[in-house]
Amino acid sequence: MDVFVIEGGRRLDGTLRINGAKNAALPLMSAALLSDEPITLLDVPALADTRNMLRLLAELGCHRVNESDGPDATRVVLHSFDRAQSHARYDIVRTMRAGICVLGPLLGRRGEARVSMPGGCTIGDRPVDLHLRGLRALGADIQLAQGDIFAKAPGGRLRGARVFLGGPMGSTVLGTINVLAAATLARGETIIESAACEPEVVDMARLLTAMGAKISGAGSPRIVIEGVDSLGSATHAIVPDRIEAGTFMCAAAITNGDIVLENCPIDGLMSVIDRLEAVGVRFQAAPGQDPMHSTCRVTSSRVLQPVEVTTQPHPGFPTDLQAQIMALLCLADGNSVVTEKIFPERFMHVAELARMGARIHRHGSTAVISGVKRLIGAPVMASDLRASAGLVLAGLAAEGTTIVNRVYHIDRGYERMEERLGALGARIERVDEKEVE
Ligand code: EPZ
Repeated sequence: MDVFVIEGGRRLDGTLRINGAKNAALPLMSAALLSDEPITLLDVPALADTRNMLRLLAELGCHRVNESDGPDATRVVLHSFDRAQSHARYDIVRTMRAGICVLGPLLGRRGEARVSMPGGCTIGDRPVDLHLRGLRALGADIQLAQGDIFAKAPGGRLRGARVFLGGPMGSTVLGTINVLAAATLARGETIIESAACEPEVVDMARLLTAMGAKISGAGSPRIVIEGVDSLGSATHAIVPDRIEAGTFMCAAAITNGDIVLENCPIDGLMSVIDRLEAVGVRFQAAPGQDPMHSTCRVTSSRVLQPVEVTTQPHPGFPTDLQAQIMALLCLADGNSVVTEKIFPERFMHVAELARMGARIHRHGSTAVISGVKRLIGAPVMASDLRASAGLVLAGLAAEGTTIVNRVYHIDRGYERMEERLGALGARIERVDEKEVE
């Protein structure tokens, strides 16, 4: 197993281009199941999760037809040839919960689906009841058996309906995407109320529209879909990854850095920029550019002010950047408060940061962080993707050596993170764990 060995204390400096978003790429790839014609996606990040999604789609008869470009090429052409197999098996879905997003496309196009029920994960309970409620509202007959979701559209086709997707924690991103995808081929009109407004939902709607779907309102809590009989081919560039960009913003902030992010989706990061500015980080976006593909300079003098952060659905502060900003606030001059409102148990990084000298007290879904003057390098254990990113950031700022174990979590969502940070001047190496014992 690989680990990262980080020598902290180096200031980040340089330019980095933000990759396509993992959380858009995964559902957009599954949209290829909705058409018999090829779908070309550009800027697909080369990640463990996107490779897993290719494997899952291939089992469902939807193949990558430009293999010759190489496994890490960012252009991915997907063609659904064979509609016989509609079973998304447990051994793939358990490694990648986003496997659930084949459910809507399979049901919409093939009239049936069998998808393994995703289990819990280290960030807490991850129910799919809203996905199922939405698809049932479109007429699907859904049964749970042997750990799988068995879904069928009576007569082979769903029918449009009014669907409410609000749950106790607000809306659901992948649930909205599943219902949206299924509704594109339903008979009649579907209205999704309390839809998720995340940029990844908007990107899915853009691709589906390019394929011939009739959708309005994506990005607002009310999406209207007029079902069509079939969808065709399309070419679409994946939206840049706001979470990767936010992670590098925090990396610049925690290392007293001065970096330029290209292809930066500042429009999707307003709440993050707001909080980081309150911390003392400075942002300068090049004028006149598309705010989803901006060039943005991020500088910090590392005189960090404490702030309050509450994670919320978009456009609020994203839960996927909670661990990273917490790492930063460990070094602020005073007490900060971080409240997690999306996944209340998502605090696996707290105990690991404490091993590096951080002072954090957790009370339920709130953590109070008392800033310290310095963090000290230590071996730490990555638990989930974003918690691990938070530990890497802490390691960049800490005195001495930090070893982040279980780097495979990071590889799920950050493409060659060590090379990208290294290019900005960080001292970070990927080595086999046996070499550091
Ligand atoms: C997406 O997960 C992302 N994953 C997550 O990113 C992200 O943390 C999350 O959205 C929130 O922004 C992908 O896009 C692949 P939700 P998703 O359904 O869609 C509750 C990362 O690190 N809920 O929007 O599965 C749920 O428990 C990952 O990149 C229900 O109650 O999240 C949570 O409290 C981790 N019933 C809230 O809604 C449901 O049926 C939001 O979850 C579904 C969700």
